[in-house]
Order: sequence, then C-alpha cells, then structure tokens
Amino acid sequence: MSDSCKRPVNKGSVRAGTREERLCQPGGSWTILVIDDETDVRDVMVISLEDAGYRTLSAPDGETGLRLLETRAPQILITDIKMPGMSGLEVLKKAHLIRPETQVIVTTGFADIKKAITALQYDASDFITKPVDDTTLHLALKRAMERYQNQKELADYTRLLEQTVLNQEKILHQEKMMSLGRLAASMVHEINNPLSGILNYITLMIRLVEKPGWDGAGQNRFKEYLTIIHQETRRCADLVSGLLQFSRKSSLQFKPVDICELIEYSRMLCNHRLELADIVLKITCEPTIPKVLGDINQLQQCVINLIFNAIDAIEGTHPAASDSMKEPSLTARPAGRIRIKADIEDADHQVCIRVSDDGKGISPGDLPRIFEPFFTTKQDGHGVGLGLSTVYGIIEHHNGTISVDSEPGQGTCFTIRLPALDETTKTKESNS
Ligand SMILES: Nc1ncnc2c1ncn2[C@@H]1O[C@H](COP(=O)(O)OP(=O)(O)O)[C@@H](O)[C@H]1O
Ligand SMILES: [Mg+2]
Repeated sequence: MSDSCKRPVNKGSVRAGTREERLCQPGGSWTILVIDDETDVRDVMVISLEDAGYRTLSAPDGETGLRLLETRAPQILITDIKMPGMSGLEVLKKAHLIRPETQVIVTTGFADIKKAITALQYDASDFITKPVDDTTLHLALKRAMERYQNQKELADYTRLLEQTVLNQEKILHQEKMMSLGRLAASMVHEINNPLSGILNYITLMIRLVEKPGWDGAGQNRFKEYLTIIHQETRRCADLVSGLLQFSRKSSLQFKPVDICELIEYSRMLCNHRLELADIVLKITCEPTIPKVLGDINQLQQCVINLIFNAIDAIEGTHPAASDSMKEPSLTARPAGRIRIKADIEDADHQVCIRVSDDGKGISPGDLPRIFEPFFTTKQDGHGVGLGLSTVYGIIEHHNGTISVDSEPGQGTCFTIRLPALDETTKTKESNS
C-alpha cells in the first residue's frame, strides 16, 4: 500500500474520516474484479488486494468477467489486455456500456504498450505493466478510486439538478391546478347566469314565433332576444376558453405581452370570487405603457394568485365575506377593496404592477417567510403555501422582481417589476 493511502492512525475513533481518508481506505466498500487468463498472475493479484483489505472477484476470461460486472457491480476492474477470446480492449468497451461508472485498469506486457495507449484513449482509468509490483498497483488503484468518486459525485449532482428542475416544474403546475380548481368552482356560477338567461330568451322566442299573426313588432323583439343570446353565449365561450388556456400545461412561450389586457383577463377569471366576497376591484392601467416580453399564461397565473391572496386577506378581516353561499351584497359599502395599478417607471424602464388590498395585512414575523414554498397561515384546505413561491419563481424567470409592503390591520401591497420591451427588441421580435 502506498504511503499516502495508509489507514488513519486513530484506529479506535468512530469519526467518519476526511474524504481523502475514506477514499484511501481499501476496506469493505471497494470491490475489485480481476480478469486474467493466467491463473498464477490472477491469484497473486487477488492475494495482494485481499491483504490490503479489498473485496475481490476474479474471472479467467472476458465473458465471465463481464457477467460478474453485471451481477456484482465492482467499482474497479483490472483486466489483462492480451487474452484468448475476448481481448482486454473489448472488455473495456463493453464494461463502459454495462456500468459506465466502473473504472478499468488494464495490465499489459512491455510489448503491448501501443494497446495500453489505445486503452487510455477508450477511457481506461490507468495501465500498469507486467509483472505488476505492489506499489504501482496500489497507486493505480488510488487514482481509480478517486476518479470513481469524482465521477459518481458529478453524476449524483447532475441527477440532483435534473430532479430539482423537474420538481420546480411540478410545483408550478400543481399550484396552477389548485388555482384552477378554485377558479372553476366560481366559474360554474359565472356560466350558470348567462346560460339561464339564454334559456329564458329562447323560451320567449319560441312563444313569439308560435303566436298567431306573428308581426313586425314581434320580429323586432325576436331579433333583440337573438342579440342578447349571442352576447351571453360569447361570454360563456370566453370564460370557458380562458379557463382552458389557463389549465394547459404549455411550454413557455415568450412573446410581447400587453399588461392591461393581461390584468383585464385575470379580472374576468376572478370576477365571481370577487362578487361573492363583495370586493371591489379597481384597475388603473395606462394603455400607453410598453409591453413586456413574457409568457402570458404564467404572468396571468401571478396576477390571479395575488388577487386570490388579496381576497383571502379581506375575507380574513370580514368573516361575512367568506360565506361563499351568500348572494353578493346589495349594500353600498363593499367588504373590501383591491386595487391593481400598472405604470411605467421611466428611470429604469420597468413596467410596474401593484396589487394592493385593505385586508388583514401580514405580521412582521411572517413577512420574511411568505415566499417560502409551503409557508401558509391559512387553515387546512384553504392554502398550501405554494402561491407566492410560484409567483416569485415566474417573475425571477422573467428577469423581474417582486416585493411586498404590509402592515397588520392596514393591508398589503405586492409590487411586480418587469423589464419593459423597448422598440428595438419589439422590432427584432417581429422580424424573427
Ligand atoms: N395579500 C395578502 N395579505 C395578507 N397575507 C398574505 C397576502 N398574500 C399572501 N399572504 C400570506 O402569505 C402566505 C403565503 O401565501 P401563498 O404562497 O399564496 O400560499 P397560500 O395562499 O396557499 O397560503 C399566506 O398564507 C398569507 O399568510
Ligand atoms: Mg395563495
């Protein structure tokens, strides 16, 4: 065993050891497969490895060796290059296909040095010349163990990154589906109203045409009813297509987005919840503000989330507003107010969307945590705490920022800032 690989001196210690120490400890966790057609060479190497504390496997030919590789998954494989049947180079290539993480050391006579270089080109970890002496063998093993560990860490890290990206996509969609559930529930009422209007007008129309002596005045009314039916049906169609577009798990499409249109569209989807909770939503949006480059679907998800949170916050201060079965109030004073204001901040050319409410506000203790995934102050079934973290992720992805101002008992204001699309970018966009 080489000096740098000697076991740590403090044998009694239960310390896990440094990475270097763990790497260099031949102990139980490292299994080495030796493939060599010469029994003596194979046996000597196995004894030397076992003396050093490694677990070993051995095979007299390539085929048997590869089977062992498949079933027993040794981390390191030492193979002779020159063997009858399958050569060491073939073993090397096949081993990489079976277990890419396995490190292969080839052993070769001096005459075969060219083959050894070819082996390195095929990504062998190392080559050692025969007869193999202990120092060279253990040095090669140390390098192979380090290489194995580095590649494994890299592969684990890559897997972790891939998993994180997948999880983020899942969370985004999950939050969207939850908003969708709440939207759909309120939209059932929204669609029900125009539908019953449509049915009433159709009944009236049937009566009209069945009347004897159907005259000009009757025909005019018939036309009037048809126009109402047309409008109401269009309203239903718009609501349903809005809902469908929102639900779709579409891939991101960055296009110029008109913020005023986006806010109006979001209001349309939240209307019924607002009416039920008796909340007035006031929108101030300068039609001249520049567009932003973004995914309309995701940006809409942000605005809807902020409106929903504002509704929840107002319902929190006015318990009567949370009674979803009650009819919208006929009194002059609404339960609460939400204001959405969009303008352009000329200094840094940012489009700024402020969503403010006069709800219960956020306590200073909760404020630093509200963008954390799964942070919620709502009762079971009312929130899972993914809304704001989703909004945060989406806005960040659009090179924007989101900030919050809140005072308990006074209300809350969320501010989203997105880079405005300038004329040159717009031209580039339309040319491409
Ligand atoms: N407009 C608001 N007014 C008061 N509190 C809010 C507001 N928006 C968010 N919050 C707080 O932030 C928390 C996290 O919000 P969110 O991530 O949307 O999750 P959820 O709505 O599921 O609770 C809420 O539970 C609430 O405590
Ligand atoms: Mg929420």
